[in-house]
Amino acid sequence: MDTVSSGRAACSTGGRTKKKEITKPMELPEPSVTEPTPLAEPTPPAAISRPAVSALITGVSGQDGSYLAEFLLAQHYTVHGLIRRCSHVPTERIEHLLNHPRFHLHYGDLTDPQNLYEVLRKVERLDGRPPREIYNLAAQSHVHVSFVMPYYTAQVDALGQLSLLNAVKELQWIPHTRVYFAGTSEMFGSSPPPQNEQTPFHPRSPYAVAKLYAYWITVNYREAYGLFAVNGILFNHESPRRHVSFVTRKITRAVGQLQRGELDVLRLGNLNAKRDWGHSRDYVRAMWLMLQQETPRDLVLGMGESHTVREFVVKAFACAGVHLRFRGTGVDEIAEDCATGRVLVRVDPRYFRPSEVENLQADPTLARQVLDWTPEYSFDDLVREMVQHDLHVSHHDY
Ligand code: NAP
Ligand code: GDD
Repeated sequence: MDTVSSGRAACSTGGRTKKKEITKPMELPEPSVTEPTPLAEPTPPAAISRPAVSALITGVSGQDGSYLAEFLLAQHYTVHGLIRRCSHVPTERIEHLLNHPRFHLHYGDLTDPQNLYEVLRKVERLDGRPPREIYNLAAQSHVHVSFVMPYYTAQVDALGQLSLLNAVKELQWIPHTRVYFAGTSEMFGSSPPPQNEQTPFHPRSPYAVAKLYAYWITVNYREAYGLFAVNGILFNHESPRRHVSFVTRKITRAVGQLQRGELDVLRLGNLNAKRDWGHSRDYVRAMWLMLQQETPRDLVLGMGESHTVREFVVKAFACAGVHLRFRGTGVDEIAEDCATGRVLVRVDPRYFRPSEVENLQADPTLARQVLDWTPEYSFDDLVREMVQHDLHVSHHDY
């Protein structure tokens, strides 16, 4: 799989450049991270000007977390982010926010319920009230990795949500706090497209099964305790901040690498898989909209159109002026540059999954009605932005 074959660890600190790893570890600005000692206790609540609204984001260092933090700060929120303590501080995507006066990071891990509870208490102490919104975006989010690490994936992606919901309940925040859970179109698995809120779930990976547990425990806390908690059932969304182990970014990065002579050939798995790809910026706005509704409701969010991996490849190379011709079938399929005949893409079975999700395409009718949500980025805009980024930024691997 991508993370292993590229010589990087499967954990989320992988995929970052060697250059960054050997430089002096970046220090987080003192007031932004709550250290595990009383020394770092930030300004007492009485002395700070009370924010109108505050939110906690788990997974703030990830693709969606970083865009959501930007979005909420622009809406004048105070934003608290849960961040993992790693040997390498994973703040590449949020570096530009670290000195923002309304942005605070707290060390934590979804696999540690006690820590989660303490972080929530600390957020309440700092703001003088519970956060109005919690976005649980943290996850072991790689489907292929979930086959290798199914227990860990279940701990983070399934039980993590339970720990969070339970902390909200134990802290008696239910009347004050709304919770968003990052559900996924992967839960539909082998159910045929188009998929909407009525489509039966048939998960095809440990990742999707874990997310399904979290989906139902969220429904249960809503029904049992009256918590405003919602599942966003989001289809694939990408950006230049996508980790390079996901197929879109792997492709757009390779376009740049091949052009610069840093790669011989791009090796991919299933070229026939279809996905409904949108832009992360549009999707974080929809997450926020879901928490602004009068009643909590689980919604499907997607573009409503799907493309094969092969189509994504063709479009990405075309954005760089390279026109591809495909030849052969199955594992012998290749794509070559029409102009030069050079082979640029090969199929590599190492990237096949033990069980695949072949075809995801959203029917987002309900969400568009309820939220009045219209994506600003088209599929073409998305591919173009990612390719442009990767043609010019060779070192930013995330
Ligand atoms: P991502 O880039 O992989 O980010 C995942 C985030 O979770 C990172 O900040 C990561 O921290 C954090 N994390 C992982 N394990 C953790 C743990 N044990 N404790 C605390 N934090 C942990 O994912 P994304 O694309 O932004 O997706 C956000 C969420 O939406 C995920 O839950 C994903 O499953 C879900 N989702 C994504 C899509 C999509 O297409 N992007 C679609 C549907 C659903 P590090 O930086 O330390 O690794
Ligand atoms: N990663 C990867 N690498 N995928 C490949 C490759 C490859 O070399 N070649 C083909 N694919 C195919 C996969 O088999 C899959 O069918 C499709 O490309 C998309 O794979 P990913 O980009 O890894 O995303 P995903 O659809 O499995 O999962 C993403 O979207 C889900 C929502 O549907 C992740 O973001 C999940 O966290 C998210 O829930």
